[in-house]
Amino acid sequence: MSVPELAVRGLTVRFAGITALDDVSFTVAPKTLHAVIGPNGAGKSTCFNVLSGVYRATEGSVTFGDAELTKLPPHKIASLGVARTFQNLALSDYLTTAANLQLGRHRLTRTGFVTAGLHLPSARREERAQADKVREVAEYVGITEHLPLPVGLLPYGVRKRVELARALCLEPRLLLLDEPVAGMNGGERRAMVETIGRVREVMDLSIVLVEHDMALVGRLADEVTVLDFGRRLTTGTPAEVRRHPDVIRAYLGKSAEEDPAAAPRTNDTPAQGQGENP
Ligand SMILES: Nc1ncnc2c1ncn2[C@@H]1O[C@H](COP(=O)(O)OP(=O)(O)O)[C@@H](O)[C@H]1O
Ligand SMILES: [Mg+2]
Repeated sequence: MSVPELAVRGLTVRFAGITALDDVSFTVAPKTLHAVIGPNGAGKSTCFNVLSGVYRATEGSVTFGDAELTKLPPHKIASLGVARTFQNLALSDYLTTAANLQLGRHRLTRTGFVTAGLHLPSARREERAQADKVREVAEYVGITEHLPLPVGLLPYGVRKRVELARALCLEPRLLLLDEPVAGMNGGERRAMVETIGRVREVMDLSIVLVEHDMALVGRLADEVTVLDFGRRLTTGTPAEVRRHPDVIRAYLGKSAEEDPAAAPRTNDTPAQGQGENP
């Protein structure tokens, strides 16, 4: 399957009394990695929630090729090859890693419940093919040893990788990663960045990534869109964005005006279980 362009046009999302996104537009060229950055509350997760059909847009459109995503329910969007991870993990803790990954393949399973229930040969073949794919993705993401274990028993950094693997099991054409390294330690972060970089090189997909860490964004992103209070400040290459005066003021804070590489104004690396999903 080819990878179409993602185009976000005039996207506005209002909740009672809050405009979470205000007329935001950007496009993601096929097979590129587009980062969305901005302080806590800027509207980044809201944007992902609209892209994956969890929230309804108040105004505006999101097209992925010919499909208008704002008119589709989440399962239809998933069936177009749009997969996501959540800022706070959304895995089934009591299921094994393997079972969580199989759930990720759900849209690709052709066997109906009846066929599967009767244990017909076609269903068994299908099951084997699914299991093979799950193992392949697990190997790719480096979680093979964790396949038989309940996800709830795994360290946080590994669970974040399981979530990435689950999204990849959908064989996505568009992968939405909401703060994939949040809460990770240095080693886990480096490994995750390396994995995302490899996914991006090897697989036929576009990636939209929400992240705080400018250094990380600079290493991975082709283009960056900066949000602040629901508005788009600018879009450009990481270098362009880092130099942009509005970005320096709004996102990086006053102290960063002398040193644009300084840490962001807010860092909302979430504590575990500080549930904000979706
Ligand atoms: N379901 C919701 N109901 C009401 N307000 C929401 C909801 N989701 C997000 N918001 C608000 O929208 C704004 C943007 O939030 P969010 O998209 O989570 O920001 P970010 O991910 O950039 O930190 C915040 O003010 C937040 O409180
Ligand atoms: Mg968020």
